[in-house]
Amino acid sequence: MKDPSQNIFDKTSVNNKHVADSENNKSDPEQIICACANLKLNDFERMVRELNDQSFGDILIKTEAGNTCTACLLDLEYFFVKAKSQNYKKYEKEVDRLNLKNKSSINIKQQFYKAIDSIAPPIAWAPTNFIPIIKGSSIETWLTITNHDLLFSERKSAPIKVTLKIRDKKGRCICKKKLLVGLGDELKLRLDKHLTYDSKPLTVGAAYINTHAVYPAMRGTIRPQFEILAPKGACALHAQGDVGPGDTWFTVQNRPNDQRLFFVLVNTFHRPQSVSISLPFELYPSGLAPKTVDNLYLPAHGTEVYEINCDELLSKALSEKPFSINVKTERSCRVYLLCGSANLDQFSIDHR
Ligand code: FES
Repeated sequence: MKDPSQNIFDKTSVNNKHVADSENNKSDPEQIICACANLKLNDFERMVRELNDQSFGDILIKTEAGNTCTACLLDLEYFFVKAKSQNYKKYEKEVDRLNLKNKSSINIKQQFYKAIDSIAPPIAWAPTNFIPIIKGSSIETWLTITNHDLLFSERKSAPIKVTLKIRDKKGRCICKKKLLVGLGDELKLRLDKHLTYDSKPLTVGAAYINTHAVYPAMRGTIRPQFEILAPKGACALHAQGDVGPGDTWFTVQNRPNDQRLFFVLVNTFHRPQSVSISLPFELYPSGLAPKTVDNLYLPAHGTEVYEINCDELLSKALSEKPFSINVKTERSCRVYLLCGSANLDQFSIDHR
């Protein structure tokens, strides 16, 4: 393998060449696609064809590409998927043949996945993604899903089918929609309008989103995003998949005159669960002992909003020094920290 530091100019030319080729709607088979491994596109494609039962990770190990500076990884993934999709019927047959031949040498889980892969076309899909919905006085939550091809002009994604479920704080499904996001289209939906504003200052719920491509194609910009709009400012975040039980930590400052802090907890599990909140875990020694300040009950698929309030004694001891808060969930749960201005006219949001 070459010394990657010697290839810095090669890498620049690789990237420029790729863009130029993309603009001309074709790829030069002689182009170097990994400068660190000195790997040409036609050699990479030949390896993908020859080793056609191998995963992307296996091909990277065999070619030694993408393992050094990793600058080429996105391009390699693109060329890998392209080569596979061009040959995917042949590839699937070969996988079947090898599966039969190698059946005794692979474990049951791999056999199961290979069996599924042998009947399912290589369609982009994502497991359920979640979005918290915040509703308040002049506070809105919007969902956006765009379906663009990124910077590769010859790279084509597919139309995306979206299944959207909106659940209220008790976990009841109050809206279900099936939508199609065509190539180059953008879906924009206001989510909070489905919730009844029945708890102040914030009413919460959650959106459950599933996406899958209509036919085999490249992955585009289909990750759902959401925005929280308030009179003096907006914040945005991408949707996330499920996350298991355990500890979530956030570090905050207690500044009640300037900001209000909330946890928004989305129970993504189909059973109720309890969540405990403990503070303050300090980033400096002061002798304050952390304790559990609340135990919350979340209904199955329910969402809860919890305002972090430090009592007077604690506020005095903490002053404005940062401290950490622990949120312990019993089951799968998405935890968000929502930071609002004192009169809730602007927000920022972060996630576990
Ligand atoms: S260009 Fe450095 S790992 Fe491929």
